[in-house]
Amino acid sequence: MKIRQSTSDETALISDLHRSAFGDPEGETIAKLINQLFSDQSAQPILSLVAEENSTLIGSVIFSKVTIDGASDCISACILAPLAVHKEHQGKGIGMKLMKQGLETLQQRGVHFVFVLGDPAYYTRAGFSSDHKINAPHKLEYPEAWMAISLQDKQLSSVNGTVQCATTLNAPEHW
Ligand SMILES: CC(C)(COP(=O)(O)OP(=O)(O)OC[C@H]1O[C@@H](n2cnc3c(N)ncnc32)[C@H](O)[C@@H]1OP(=O)(O)O)[C@@H](O)C(=O)NCCC(=O)NCCS
Repeated sequence: MKIRQSTSDETALISDLHRSAFGDPEGETIAKLINQLFSDQSAQPILSLVAEENSTLIGSVIFSKVTIDGASDCISACILAPLAVHKEHQGKGIGMKLMKQGLETLQQRGVHFVFVLGDPAYYTRAGFSSDHKINAPHKLEYPEAWMAISLQDKQLSSVNGTVQCATTLNAPEHW
């Protein structure tokens, strides 16, 4: 299994992977989101990593740019969304490897914070925490699912504000 950045002609393959991993009816919404996200200028720069085995894509994670309203413009941040591993390959650590490799790349690029909305039981294993004061773009049913990680020496606790995602991801249906 190899992890690498995706190429510009793999959007359809990545969408198909997420459609099948998330299943009905969420998969269709996520697949559409991915198609839009790759061509959304406000999401740039995007980091898209894929896990590949025998020339087949079996996992994908996408990080896109966010801003934090109310915080210093010097802070660089991203959101992790979405992440999926093909059903036949789940539970083998591929999701965690994709996520960790993505976080390492973003750290090298100087990104301060990465946000995620997801299951705390899973994402806290990669170092995410809901112990911060930065608001999500929308009101959440489960606020503890809104997590962040600091990749540089800047403390999350030193920042207040509200995350604004790319136009595509800001749509209320994704929250
Ligand atoms: C969530 C997902 C990406 C995890 O990828 P994966 O490669 O199967 O995960 P890993 O092998 O790295 O980790 C597996 C562990 O995480 C746990 N786990 C997997 N998905 C989880 C979830 N949604 N919530 C909590 N724990 C989860 C497994 O129980 C397993 O625990 P164990 O190590 O104690 O057995 C994958 O299951 C998937 O594609 N699911 C459908 C799409 C989805 O829900 N994506 C977003 C999640 S917020």
